[in-house]
Amino acid sequence: MRKHRILIVDDEKLVCWSLSQMLMDSGFSVETAMSGAEDREKFKEFRPEMILLDVRLPDANGVDLLGEFKEQDEDVFVVMITAYADADSAVNALKIGADDYIGKPFDIDNIKHIVEQSFEKKKLRKEVDFFSREQRKKYDYDNLIGNSPKMIDIFKMIKVCAETDAKIVLVLGESGTGKQLVARAIHYHSARSQEPFIEINCAAIPDNLLENELFGHERGAYTDASKTHKGIFEAAQGGTVFLDEIGDMPLSMQAKILKVIDSQEFRRLGGSRDIDVDVRIIAATNQDLPAMVKENTFRADLFFRLNVMSIPLAPLRERKEDLPALTNYFIGRLNEEYGRSVEGVSPEALDCLKRYDWPGNVRELRNSMERAMMLEPGTSLTHTFFSHKIRDCASADTASGQFGVQQNIQSVDQNGYIKLPPEGISIEEVEKKLIEQALERFNGNQTKAAKCLKMSRDTLRYRIKKFGMQTIGRDSSFD
Ligand SMILES: Nc1ncnc2c1ncn2[C@@H]1O[C@H](COP(=O)(O)OP(=O)(O)OP(=O)(O)O)[C@@H](O)[C@H]1O
Ligand SMILES: [Mg+2]
Repeated sequence: MRKHRILIVDDEKLVCWSLSQMLMDSGFSVETAMSGAEDREKFKEFRPEMILLDVRLPDANGVDLLGEFKEQDEDVFVVMITAYADADSAVNALKIGADDYIGKPFDIDNIKHIVEQSFEKKKLRKEVDFFSREQRKKYDYDNLIGNSPKMIDIFKMIKVCAETDAKIVLVLGESGTGKQLVARAIHYHSARSQEPFIEINCAAIPDNLLENELFGHERGAYTDASKTHKGIFEAAQGGTVFLDEIGDMPLSMQAKILKVIDSQEFRRLGGSRDIDVDVRIIAATNQDLPAMVKENTFRADLFFRLNVMSIPLAPLRERKEDLPALTNYFIGRLNEEYGRSVEGVSPEALDCLKRYDWPGNVRELRNSMERAMMLEPGTSLTHTFFSHKIRDCASADTASGQFGVQQNIQSVDQNGYIKLPPEGISIEEVEKKLIEQALERFNGNQTKAAKCLKMSRDTLRYRIKKFGMQTIGRDSSFD
């Protein structure tokens, strides 16, 4: 394992020696310096992760050195060694930017503890940074996938909302269309991105607790309120409150939200003063709010306030052009998650996905792909492991007229004749489908359709009648 590097700077030889012995025995890599000049040199060569730095040196002031080192490497952890272990020295050391301090005379075991703890803190700080970066990455524009005109419009709206600091945004769309993703994208691309994004699912919280969650309470506001509790609006100060499933918010609470929007202030439960609030509210729902307004289950005034900047997410079935990009994206993510190396979806599988209507939208697509990828042994995702619903839809579609690419290859031989599949075939069904296709191709013109099917017009008419088929378009035999 790599050893952590520590530089000890003290003009007392004995201090340097005893500290370095102890730290080396504890598994650290240690260097010492006894003057400011030596210290600067060692800092460059040794690149310490931590410096134990005496405040008083013969040729330099530890405080100046601290500033210098932090400027060159903001991650270096500096522990000041001060003459006295009193509160003033501690406060001074921390004020000037030290990460910790040790007072003289010191207990060697205590120093070991401080050093170890500091590395632990450093590691934690790094992890927190890493996770917040990851979290942000997760909701980046790049992760909101789609290149259909409908999605391009959505990207534009997100940009406008983020850049203009629109105070209220309403995101609409069926379940699984990405409402939450849009809400996060707005927040993390706005000037508020360093402030909290706090979400609350209005449908998941019992009505009597919702007010407490949103606005908090004062101590003693009710029997169990032993401490003051800040609500979501207060905790999100400067940032964004995401009111998910706002259609499920009780009417009484709707009135209170409207008041917050209008006055930019609210009161904790049991409180006697108004608290100013600066948050962006993003509300989302999959319900038909105008219909709810008509039924008096959603307040009209709140709806109008929310509906100024609304982002309507189209269901996936209305933007199937997004499927190739979405499937590639999920394959990439799932490869990472499961250590797989699937390269893409087979053309038949993509065809299958395009025929299905995706009532659960992108969420359903992701789940279906996850399932298929777990089962798929090869490097190309085939339709074999999609659920029955998805595969059946593709075959129903095939039976209803258009032979898919796959079907064509399998059921037509090299001379262009239909091959008898192992499970047999209904001649009537095949005849009916071919007639339907011919009529469709010639816009209902029976003469042309009959000619294409190499049968007389009378035979075609007879069959149309026999199969009880609806004829489409014109029936002009004279064209
Ligand atoms: N355009 C998209 N690109 C990539 N992933 C998406 C997209 N839309 C949705 N998803 C993914 O689909 C899943 C559902 O998205 P999200 O939770 O945002 O949907 P929702 O509209 O809030 O659904 P619900 O109404 O059920 O809460 C998530 O895993 C999300 O990452
Ligand atoms: Mg959601």
